[in-house]
Amino acid sequence: MNTKLLHTLDTDLDLAAEILKNGGLVAMPTETVYGLAANALNTQAVVNIFKAKGRAQDNPLIVHIAKFEDLPRYVRDIPPAAQKLADAFWPGPLTMIFQKQPVIPAQVTCGMETVAVRMPAHPVALQLIQKSGCPLAAPSANLSGGVSPTSATACMQDLNGKIDAVVDGGSCRVGLESTIVLMTSTPPRLLRPGFITKEQIENVIGPINVDPAVLKPLAKGVKPTSPGMKYKHYAPKAKVVLIDGESQKYIDYVNQHTGDNVFALCFSEEQNALLKPSLSYGAEHDGKTQAALLFQSLREFDRLGAKLVLAHMPSAEGIGLAVLNRLLRAAAFEVIHL
Ligand code: TXA
Ligand code: MG
Repeated sequence: MNTKLLHTLDTDLDLAAEILKNGGLVAMPTETVYGLAANALNTQAVVNIFKAKGRAQDNPLIVHIAKFEDLPRYVRDIPPAAQKLADAFWPGPLTMIFQKQPVIPAQVTCGMETVAVRMPAHPVALQLIQKSGCPLAAPSANLSGGVSPTSATACMQDLNGKIDAVVDGGSCRVGLESTIVLMTSTPPRLLRPGFITKEQIENVIGPINVDPAVLKPLAKGVKPTSPGMKYKHYAPKAKVVLIDGESQKYIDYVNQHTGDNVFALCFSEEQNALLKPSLSYGAEHDGKTQAALLFQSLREFDRLGAKLVLAHMPSAEGIGLAVLNRLLRAAAFEVIHL
């Protein structure tokens, strides 16, 4: 298959919408990461998403909508808290999980009775939903297990030849996938941290729970609330190890480390003191920049041929919780405490 590289001209978006309407697959920009979109109501198109990504058959997809008023078509029992969260954060990087309506195919939810829904805050994604007239099922547009794409180039690296088109909307502002909240439990439960923080959500609807899988590997035999949590994720080809400790100790640890193709993923303040090749992912207390640069840095390590990446562990405050959650998975939970 020849994968078209499209831009954001009206004629290109019309073509992308036509492809979606006809059951094709289009990688589209959102404010979080690029999504691999298909008509969520077209069973075959949804099955093709799983094939193109090599995605496990039990890992359900997020449905993207452009208007809050469309939500009751796809989900039922919308609690007042969901309306409040939508008022506060939609369109935006927040996904909510509800009981599904029968119109959502079992292929989207992998047989679950719940469905995840989000209204993205990206003009291109919103236009594609509107122009195609379809709710769009879209997981991140990477090969399963790899690093989520934050640029059209990254989508092409993974999916060229496997999908109909990629729409190039530039790099993603947030850089990490959306915050996911399960609205069917009382109180609601945070399943995946993101740009919208737990504190921001609690300011709107009061206390919520955090799923234990956010910062810990799943215990053996435990069924995850979110199937995606059990898979190794966000992993570049290099082995990643998280290093927990103050700056000077981190610098000394990296500088004393022997071996070939060892790279550092450090804070910007540390870069000059490091004797190994390094990428900085933002200042120590700048979680937003760390989120925006993390995935792009992990892909860059692959390009540079890194074998081992020693990543300085971020703080778990605010959006840092999301950065830490992704890095822990990239590192398969290997942490060295200095
Ligand atoms: O920012 C994002 O959320 C991006 C953009 C494209 O919108 N999408 C994204 O999709 O990250 P994906 O498929 O990479 O991650 C969706 C996660 C998976 O871990 C999946 O298991 C979980 O959401 N999920 C989907 N439906 C669910 C459900 N009904 N119950 C529990 N977890 C669900
Ligand atoms: Mg993903």
